[in-house]
Amino acid sequence: MTGVLITGGTGKTGAALAELLRGSGVRVRVASRNPAVDDPDAVRFDWEDPATHHAALSGVDRVYLVPPPFALDPVPLVGPFLAEAERLGVRRVVLLGSAIVLPNAPGALELAERVRARPGWVVLRASGFMQNFLSPHPMGDRIRSHGEIRTAAGAGRVGWIDARDIAAAAAALLTDAGNPAHDQRDHLLTGPKALSYREAAEIITAHAGRPVRVEPIGADDLALGYRAAGIPEPLADALAAVDAGLDAGEEARVTTAVLDLTGRPPRTFAEFVRDNVTAWEATR
Ligand SMILES: NC(=O)c1ccc[n+]([C@@H]2O[C@H](COP(=O)([O-])OP(=O)(O)OC[C@H]3O[C@@H](n4cnc5c(N)ncnc54)[C@H](OP(=O)(O)O)[C@@H]3O)[C@@H](O)[C@H]2O)c1
Repeated sequence: MTGVLITGGTGKTGAALAELLRGSGVRVRVASRNPAVDDPDAVRFDWEDPATHHAALSGVDRVYLVPPPFALDPVPLVGPFLAEAERLGVRRVVLLGSAIVLPNAPGALELAERVRARPGWVVLRASGFMQNFLSPHPMGDRIRSHGEIRTAAGAGRVGWIDARDIAAAAAALLTDAGNPAHDQRDHLLTGPKALSYREAAEIITAHAGRPVRVEPIGADDLALGYRAAGIPEPLADALAAVDAGLDAGEEARVTTAVLDLTGRPPRTFAEFVRDNVTAWEATR
């Protein structure tokens, strides 16, 4: 068949992408470790189980690639998958990468490089997700339980992006609408404006009616919190180090990539909050 294999198909960007592509009449295969029994497009797929890769790939000509979320080095699991995709003639891979470069994690850069090296395969480098402010992300959980954001970032800003806009950019790239922007091999995807945690907290407070305060903490304490939330230690430490480094301003970049790729501006943080207004109701 021609169609799109969506890895991470049950996740924040993958599920939104499946909806967009189905709405455009594109055939999809929704990959999950636990495929929904009532979804004929669902396929079992596990990065840790290479035996599931060939069946997921066979017959599709495009792939949305969400690397294994907790792997600091995705190459050992994703490399053989990409080789198989290449062998089977997959013409388009859209990799969900990150604008943030984690310390001591060259594997993510190597993976992006491998994808960019193939004609027609592209990399999305996404800024921090607005959905991190929602449960089940540890930050979203803490807002719900304590009305608090704990951060080591100080006044550092991030060009927060709504995961739905990442899905829209991926959908555009996977359906080839003849837009010259689609020929680029690398897209830095951001929201429309960089915001500090304090500014984001003020917007949630104003629009959702839930007072949210910001509690400055050190990177070590932040890493402990991530570990307690189940994130493996090396990744927890790397994420905390990035948060502490936000003051340097690297993640405050904003681009027009979403507009260029989709023809629509990315959602603002206030729009994101209004669309999720009940999500911050107190849990205790
Ligand atoms: N959060 C951010 O700010 C941010 C910023 C830039 C980039 N990113 C990147 O975005 C990606 C997605 O992260 P997310 O936290 O938003 O997760 P997500 O996409 O919402 O959820 C993770 C997805 O991965 C799938 N998955 C998990 N383990 C798997 C495995 N062993 N085999 C196959 N599929 C597996 C899950 O599917 P099932 O459970 O159904 O199997 C789920 O669909 C990550 O690569 C992250 O680096 C995140």
